[in-house]
Amino acid sequence: MGESIYGLQRTHKCGELGLANVGEIVTVMGWSHKRRDLGGVIFVDLRDRSGVLQVVFNTAIDQELFAKAEGIRSEYVLAVVGEVVKRAPETVNSKIQTGEIEVIAKELRILSQAETPPIYIEEDSDVNESVRLKYRYIDLRRPDMQRNLILRHKVAKIARDYYDENGFLEIETPMLTKSTPEGARDYLVPSRVQPGKFFALPQSPQLFKQLLMVSGFDRYIQIVKCFRDEDLRADRQPEFTQIDLEMSFVNVEDVLTINEGFAKKVFKETLDVELEAPFIRMPYQEAMDRFGSDKPDIRFGLELVNISDIVENCGFKVFADAVKNGGSVRAINAKGCGAKFSRREIDSLVEYVKIYKAKGMAWIVVEQNELKSAITKFFNEDEVKAILDRVQAEPGDLICFIADKNEVVYDALGQLRLELARRLELLNNNEFKFLWVTEFPLLEYDAEDKRWVAKHHPFTSPMDEDLQYLDSDPGKVRAKAYDLVLNGVEIGGGSIRIHIQELQAKMFELLGFTTEQAWDRFGFLLEAFKYGTPPHGGMAYGLDRLVMLMAGKSSIRDVIAFPKVQNASCVMTNAPDFVETKQLKELKIKTES
Ligand code: AMO
Ligand code: AMP
Repeated sequence: MGESIYGLQRTHKCGELGLANVGEIVTVMGWSHKRRDLGGVIFVDLRDRSGVLQVVFNTAIDQELFAKAEGIRSEYVLAVVGEVVKRAPETVNSKIQTGEIEVIAKELRILSQAETPPIYIEEDSDVNESVRLKYRYIDLRRPDMQRNLILRHKVAKIARDYYDENGFLEIETPMLTKSTPEGARDYLVPSRVQPGKFFALPQSPQLFKQLLMVSGFDRYIQIVKCFRDEDLRADRQPEFTQIDLEMSFVNVEDVLTINEGFAKKVFKETLDVELEAPFIRMPYQEAMDRFGSDKPDIRFGLELVNISDIVENCGFKVFADAVKNGGSVRAINAKGCGAKFSRREIDSLVEYVKIYKAKGMAWIVVEQNELKSAITKFFNEDEVKAILDRVQAEPGDLICFIADKNEVVYDALGQLRLELARRLELLNNNEFKFLWVTEFPLLEYDAEDKRWVAKHHPFTSPMDEDLQYLDSDPGKVRAKAYDLVLNGVEIGGGSIRIHIQELQAKMFELLGFTTEQAWDRFGFLLEAFKYGTPPHGGMAYGLDRLVMLMAGKSSIRDVIAFPKVQNASCVMTNAPDFVETKQLKELKIKTES
């Protein structure tokens, strides 16, 4: 037994009490959620993490106690001793889990008082988010925020249990380390002992987990903070959490299978959702061609259709030129939207695709006996028929076309697809559609820097059958890389790694590192590969994103206790902040201001 509080010891949590406790004298503690004064009777809804409980103060029973209860205000912290009684049938509250009982108070202690909070403690508050974040400790009292963080705890716990059951060891890797190239900017930490030198906070434990495979740990997992200085978005924070794992002696299928097992378990045990495994495996190129995205939301159709071959010699210059210049013309049949959307709504779609660099969007509304469109006049009858057949047009449909470089066509139509789904309300947050996107390109050409960059990271293994193109046509080489996609969100990604030193060195060369540069940055890895390296691979989940989708939220800020805002600061603590000149002096750092 711990020390008592003001002479009292809590016996129950508020939400635990029910008919089984009727007649018991209990001590409960929590926040005064609401107080209702009905003349000689005061009802206080007492709230703790477990739920809400009605406490009754009756002047007829105890006048002095009643007078004390009159002083209770919202969010006061109370301790109440009282008797659990069954409520009369007409006063049963089916909305709360303790609604069949109430506690008749015999003793009351006000443990602390509270000013009127700036945020109501209620489900789905519509208070401005910056106010919520400034008073995050109060915001986190709200039931939906409590549920989100409890869910997050459960997901992390199930991850630890599941991977432990499957032979994974949790091993910590350093936070003060050297820059690893996951593609974002590093957060740097100055060294006092070695002025002018800096640690980087890890963007991921990538290299350490590979070294743990060299050490023979075989299966590693870590729930770990990662740091990336990149632009914030709804699904991106500068510090976020990965469920990070690595396995030795495995191929792609082994990694996917073990992770499907985790997804199944976590969805079953938290949401009681039965996922069907194996998940779809879709090569990257297919995902782009069908959905215009490498993280397709497959909860709905509206797939892209390539009509380049039909229009390459047509009279509409925009279309014909796009194909001749190596691009393409693709369409989406927005089923039924021709009948549903006004001209203004169609025009707003044209504006929408321009955000994604499309120069325009041509369209055809299919009616019973005619076509409404500004472009049909440029086509001959056969071409029109071929297009309509290809997109399986029916009366009432709206066919949308974009002609451009492939990159723009994919992106603009991929985004149009999502926008159509939102407008048509096709997105159901309780539906969970997983898929693996596989066979990513190994490299991407950075036209600005005029060099190849790794699409996943430089440690990813090329596919065996594509090794032959490594020198002649690097853009054609596919990687043993995969992303796990849920409802259009990339919730995880990984790869089989290169484990042969020569191939790793070659990869660095392709990425434009000189041998010296490669050894300077990654020498410890190249060196390690000399001493016996098992073939290995793994992946990392974005825990925040996974929990966000499970909680039905649209921002990871709602599943992180203390997140940062758009400009990567914390509005509650005011971090980052200036530091004392003395601290800077010790670090031998001069700032400009
Ligand atoms: P990757 O960079 O794809 O892979 O990251 C893995 C997953 O982490 C999540 N994620 C983020 N979540 C929130 N905020 C961010 N800024 C952020 N950045 C990434 C995503 C992503 O899928 N070392 C490799 C993994 C591996 O190869 O094993 C890695 O970090 O959900
Ligand atoms: P224009 O001849 O430029 O007036 O364009 C005729 C129609 O084609 C308009 O509806 C434009 O929105 C559309 N359009 C223009 N550029 C493109 C493009 N790159 N892809 C698809 N449609 C386009």
